[in-house]
Amino acid sequence: MNIAMLGSGFIARFYATSLHAQRRIDRVTMVYSRDKENAARFASDFGLEHFTDNMQEAISHPDIDVVMISLPNHLHEEAVAACVAAKKHVLCTKPLGRTAAEAKRMLQLVEDSGIFGGYLEDLCYTPKFLKSLESVKSGAIGRVLWTKSRETHPGPHSDWFWDKEKSGGGAMIDLACHCIEIGRNYIGKNVKPIEVMCWADTQVHPIDAEDHGIGLIKYANGAISQFEVSWCFRGGMDLRDEVMGSEGTIWINNFLRTGFETFTTGAGEGYVAEKAEVNKGWLFPVGDEAHELGYPNMFTDMFSAIEENRQPQETFYDGYVVNAILDAAYKSAKTKLWEPVILEDWRGDEGVSYEKGNVSYDADHFLIKEEKLPNGDLKLILRNKKTGEMSQKVKYS
Ligand SMILES: NC(=O)c1ccc[n+]([C@@H]2O[C@H](COP(=O)([O-])OP(=O)(O)OC[C@H]3O[C@@H](n4cnc5c(N)ncnc54)[C@H](O)[C@@H]3O)[C@@H](O)[C@H]2O)c1
Repeated sequence: MNIAMLGSGFIARFYATSLHAQRRIDRVTMVYSRDKENAARFASDFGLEHFTDNMQEAISHPDIDVVMISLPNHLHEEAVAACVAAKKHVLCTKPLGRTAAEAKRMLQLVEDSGIFGGYLEDLCYTPKFLKSLESVKSGAIGRVLWTKSRETHPGPHSDWFWDKEKSGGGAMIDLACHCIEIGRNYIGKNVKPIEVMCWADTQVHPIDAEDHGIGLIKYANGAISQFEVSWCFRGGMDLRDEVMGSEGTIWINNFLRTGFETFTTGAGEGYVAEKAEVNKGWLFPVGDEAHELGYPNMFTDMFSAIEENRQPQETFYDGYVVNAILDAAYKSAKTKLWEPVILEDWRGDEGVSYEKGNVSYDADHFLIKEEKLPNGDLKLILRNKKTGEMSQKVKYS
């Protein structure tokens, strides 16, 4: 497929690098940038046939099959509307909107027109994340109880991110969108997010938005999902996920300290990894950065989905749900209360269910736990089913 890239900045380059790095059949052939010189430079760097400073021209060019939105957050809606008008499939970077209302309008536009809408949520496609999701879905860790996802770094690279009107917020809209969707995947996208409790503050930078935020999202099945995001973190980019279930645990470190460690006195000038702050001393490079960040797996899913006329793993609807959770997080950070997630369009399961999964020990008791002690004895903690009384049984070694 022939792709038109809207924007020629940071993420546009990452996307084009991922698409052109291997022998792929889907290629960027057109770039739009408001600055013609930037468009020309991008086209020359990636060997593109066309470049323009006119967004409409890029989208409606007859050679173009798919449009990729790599523009600042406040321009996503306008770009989606232009793709819909031209009837071109659209892939939009994260976050889908600045608010759920904005995301819902984009979702509706795309669905009403029948074009394909893919949500470019790369961190739900990292090799480690996909493998862990497979384990969770196969039941390897039992019932999911708690997910935790962290993205922290020293702050973004362009002015518009720091402007609350253009970006829609601060570190939370920028980074928690990833963490929230990671948690939803583990817990199950059919399970309704109910309410959010959030702390956010501006700890370091002279900005109106938050540069640090921590949130808890409660789901209808009793699972809890936690996000931790910051633009104040020093030392690179920290991308970690955890999921704890009734039968197991998974910890993932996607980026920093992934088993590749280098020492240099600083003799070279080389690039280390995204948001790395130094290039001397002990460094933690990333072997294939685009792959570790999920881009190739994401594009394979997106373009195959278009071809196979199916939904991708990450859709515009997912982007809308993430925005609705973020809206509740922003509200909670202000009110300091649990705030409901308002989903006018909910397509998953209804109702609240808490399965505790009590294990019977015998006719009269539940088994709470068993533990081998240092002296070799086995201790069983029991609860009487009728009276609720706790007791213990020791099987001596
Ligand atoms: N992991 C990820 O998925 C990821 C990572 C980084 C950024 N992003 C997203 O990608 C989008 C772009 O971010 P970026 O990091 O590439 O930003 P950037 O500032 O590096 O690039 C933005 C591009 O948009 C252009 N632009 C800026 N203002 C414009 C305007 N008013 N009109 C037309 N063009 C304009 C810039 O010239 C540039 O080409 C954002 O939505 C961001 O959240 C996603």
